[in-house]
Amino acid sequence: MKDSKLTAHELMELENKYGAHNYHPLPIVLDRGEGVFVWDVDGKKYFDFLSAYSAVNQGHCHPRIINTLIEQAKKLTLTSRAFYNSQLGQYEEFVTQYFGYEKVLPMNTGAEAVETAIKLCRKWAYKKKGLPENSAQIVVCENNFHGRTTTIVSFSVDPEAYNHYGPYTPGFIVIPYNDADALEKVMNENQHIAGFMVEPIQGEAGAYVPDDGYLKKCYNLCSQYNVLFIADEVQTGIARTGKLLACDYEDVHPDILILGKALSGGVYPVSAVLSSKEIMDVIRPGQHGSTFGGNPIAAAVAITALEVIRDEKLAENAFALGKIFRNEMDKFCENSNIASIIRGKGLLNALVINNEGHKNLAWDICLKLIENGLLAKPTHTNIIRFAPPLVITEKQLFECVEIIKKTIKEFE
Ligand SMILES: Cc1ncc(COP(=O)(O)O)c(C=O)c1O
Repeated sequence: MKDSKLTAHELMELENKYGAHNYHPLPIVLDRGEGVFVWDVDGKKYFDFLSAYSAVNQGHCHPRIINTLIEQAKKLTLTSRAFYNSQLGQYEEFVTQYFGYEKVLPMNTGAEAVETAIKLCRKWAYKKKGLPENSAQIVVCENNFHGRTTTIVSFSVDPEAYNHYGPYTPGFIVIPYNDADALEKVMNENQHIAGFMVEPIQGEAGAYVPDDGYLKKCYNLCSQYNVLFIADEVQTGIARTGKLLACDYEDVHPDILILGKALSGGVYPVSAVLSSKEIMDVIRPGQHGSTFGGNPIAAAVAITALEVIRDEKLAENAFALGKIFRNEMDKFCENSNIASIIRGKGLLNALVINNEGHKNLAWDICLKLIENGLLAKPTHTNIIRFAPPLVITEKQLFECVEIIKKTIKEFE
């Protein structure tokens, strides 16, 4: 580990010079984290209101999770799946019981888990549903974000994600989000639908919460048409939205559930696809996998990360504090020319900024928030996502609301 004696400016220059410019970070260099706080290289402390895009739900460097990471790293890190390892089976039993599924397929990143779900769905369609080879279609939603692989960007409607990466993977039909009628129509018109993949709340699009009942309606349609309901809960899952899963709000138990990010509390890349034995069994040895998927560190860390969620009642905390946050911000929006709408569920929230006449306003507000001790990032040009670690206390939340209000007022 390099102990940095370089200045923040020098460290940013290094990233700019030697790193690909596939991100546009805010100009701050972080060095340390604990709970809801992070510190920059100059020792200044901030509230983290991004949580690494909802990966650090359990708070930065949670001692129990870090302890598991260290202990397992000292013992055994990687075997590959050529052999059994002493952690994986125990994790598989734990995670399936925790989420109420029969089987799990472990991967590393969210995008890999989404790819896994797509492969599972297609193969199920040929082996179980009886669709002709190469005909399977998966329905997805406009403004989706499911990751960055070539197949996944093939069904993105964001030109930044999509343009110039063709030729694209066929087999996806894009319909409007929050429109169950559109799903029914497409199912009626097309006999080759294998799955419907949806984010229960669209996180990257700006915390778009669909109407109550939408997920349930879609789930029922899927059952009716023998189509797999695939929930991508990489961002919404694991207590972020105030329930263990966002689908729990509508008592929907997806046929395929995709998890990532907070499955490790943000200390290690761990993702998973959960499903029934009937669906999972279509994949046989040698047909899918990953060198690191299901490694002993990932397995051990994920058990502890999920125990922390349950033991510290983080879903309950996110539910209660999310209500307070939106309530406070709603009141603020009523009297603000800049803050127009607050929306979200639990502690996945987004503030819509009125940026007429000041195109970079959301970015500039985030710069000012940094000065005032709170880190958040714009999504698109006019939305700021607010998603603190779920270990935040009510007192800290009120302190943060004051910082946000004060900062925005500086632009009024
Ligand atoms: C809903 C959703 N799916 C998939 C992904 C991709 O995850 P990863 O960046 O770990 O590949 C993300 C990442 O933000 C996401 O929000």
